[in-house]
Amino acid sequence: CGIVAYVGVRDAYSVIIKGLKRLEYRGYDSAGIALVNGGINIIKKKGKVINLEEFASNTNLDGHIGIGHTRWATHGIPSDANSHPHTSGDGRIALVHNGIIENYLTLKADLLKKGHVFKSETDTEVLVHFIEDIRNELRCNLEEAVRVALSRVVGAFAIAVISVDEPAVMVAARRGSPLAVGIGDGEYVIASDVTPIIEYTQSVIYPKDNEMVVINGTNYKLIDLENNLLEPYVKELDFELASIEKGGFEHFMLKEIMEQPRTFRDCLRGRLKAEEAYIKLGGIRDYIDEIISAKRILIIACGTSYHAGLVAKYLFEDLCGIPTDIDFASEFRYRKVVITERTVVLGISQSGETADTIVALEKAKKKGAKVLGICNVVGSSIARLTDAGVYTHVGVEIGVASTKAFTGQLAIIYMMALLIAKEKGSLEYEKYRHLVEEFDQIPDKIEQTLKNTYTAVEQISAACRTASSMIYLGRGLNYPIALEGALKLKEITYIHAEGYPAAEMKHGPIALIDENMFVVFIAPKDKTYEKIVSNIQEVKSRGGKVVALVTEGDKTIAKMADYTIEIPETDKIFTPVLNIIPLQMLSYQVAKLRECNIDQPRNLAKSVTVE
Ligand code: G6P
Repeated sequence: CGIVAYVGVRDAYSVIIKGLKRLEYRGYDSAGIALVNGGINIIKKKGKVINLEEFASNTNLDGHIGIGHTRWATHGIPSDANSHPHTSGDGRIALVHNGIIENYLTLKADLLKKGHVFKSETDTEVLVHFIEDIRNELRCNLEEAVRVALSRVVGAFAIAVISVDEPAVMVAARRGSPLAVGIGDGEYVIASDVTPIIEYTQSVIYPKDNEMVVINGTNYKLIDLENNLLEPYVKELDFELASIEKGGFEHFMLKEIMEQPRTFRDCLRGRLKAEEAYIKLGGIRDYIDEIISAKRILIIACGTSYHAGLVAKYLFEDLCGIPTDIDFASEFRYRKVVITERTVVLGISQSGETADTIVALEKAKKKGAKVLGICNVVGSSIARLTDAGVYTHVGVEIGVASTKAFTGQLAIIYMMALLIAKEKGSLEYEKYRHLVEEFDQIPDKIEQTLKNTYTAVEQISAACRTASSMIYLGRGLNYPIALEGALKLKEITYIHAEGYPAAEMKHGPIALIDENMFVVFIAPKDKTYEKIVSNIQEVKSRGGKVVALVTEGDKTIAKMADYTIEIPETDKIFTPVLNIIPLQMLSYQVAKLRECNIDQPRNLAKSVTVE
């Protein structure tokens, strides 16, 4: 979910609606806005922000203080009633919330006994009634009521609250869920991330867990839940508005796919110098010895970041000789896990806000592991909780289906693996030097891949747009790419897809193959090339349609496959980076032909900040 709130001289509605559109990637099941102007005016609607905007055109929405929300449903189905903002029983307090109040059923039972009546099934409505109840009992102001309520709440939240009784006051607070407060010239924009803020100011405070910002007119203060006054740390952002706009592309996803030569280069900038065979990762500099002497590396992530982690597992074992395991964060957090001495944990997360990953990394930390991170969002929760880490620096990723963040994660992982291998001595220096030189060419080769594969991808998309299912097969380092290719297709085209290690095909998926099945093979010239050729024959002889990603100039597979996509030559360990590019583009093109909502696929959210 995403929240936006405004206090200042501007028209609050306009600032909030624009902000909600920027945050829609966080969820779009419903949206709503509340403004204080004499009373509280609220509009909320199931569906996208645009529905809300249409609905708003015949409502009075004047005012200079207000809160807004775009929701990804957790408690309660997407409906007008379950949309935020929620109001107190007397209708004098309105609140938007991102996160989960875990003890809401207990709180609700108490409030029901006291005569509170609820209009929705949400935990958020319980929170605003709870605040009202405390305000009535203690006869205190909004700030105090929110503070006391939050100190009794179990769970995660980022909230913004307003009240008719104090029309210049806004209270915002967080625990676990992200929140940024933009400090403008006599105005304030509060939001789940900085994208709604940067148009108005570059000065931002990121409150920490259990901290509250209280705005009163043009003044503000930062306090904690024990009511201690804190010194706010105002960070100056260096952020251009253009970086969060589509820049002439039809979709954010397309823009982000096309940006990859540059974003990949940005990841390498200042960190890799090919002429000197030099790699430096400042963020983990002090931990290199610990990593080298690690008995085990354990990677924790979700979704696309998990697939980047799988590539890392292969590389850390292959190049560095360090036993490496990987776990889904959601599995790790509920299992009895064995963290022995000298285990280094690596969390990978684009947003740095995925709830399961946060909790899993906290658990690893409690068990005594050194926890490192790879994140894209600077200052995010995971970036803060890890002992050290490296940013991908690919810029804001807005398309829900992750593309440039994935290749950015791969960029960091390759540099980490090469650096560790060199320091550890597990890779001969000459080989290391050669790989660094080759890696430096990858941004150019991504560019080449985008150009060379465009026509082939277009033809394949036209052919498979009506498929009901597809299989993606790869081996070794390209097995994770098969998984990621299939995930991209599922996410935005709604065509069922499965990624499999190619040789496992015989153990099940082969039963699915008939003349309607498209099978995508990732078949670079590496040590399993011949095996993949046999797998292709197995599919062909059962009538399946073969799409093959091959090394440029490969005639053998080209003769067998129905469609081939030629990938520029590189060292075999770097092929995953190039192979994912046409697979991203394939999903994009198919989704476009199927007229799907590419940047906002149904039911998904960019960052899953709930369990
Ligand atoms: C969601 C997104 C995915 C992403 C995953 C993990 O499911 O839709 O694109 O890979 O979360 O997110 P993270 O921010 O932790 O990488």
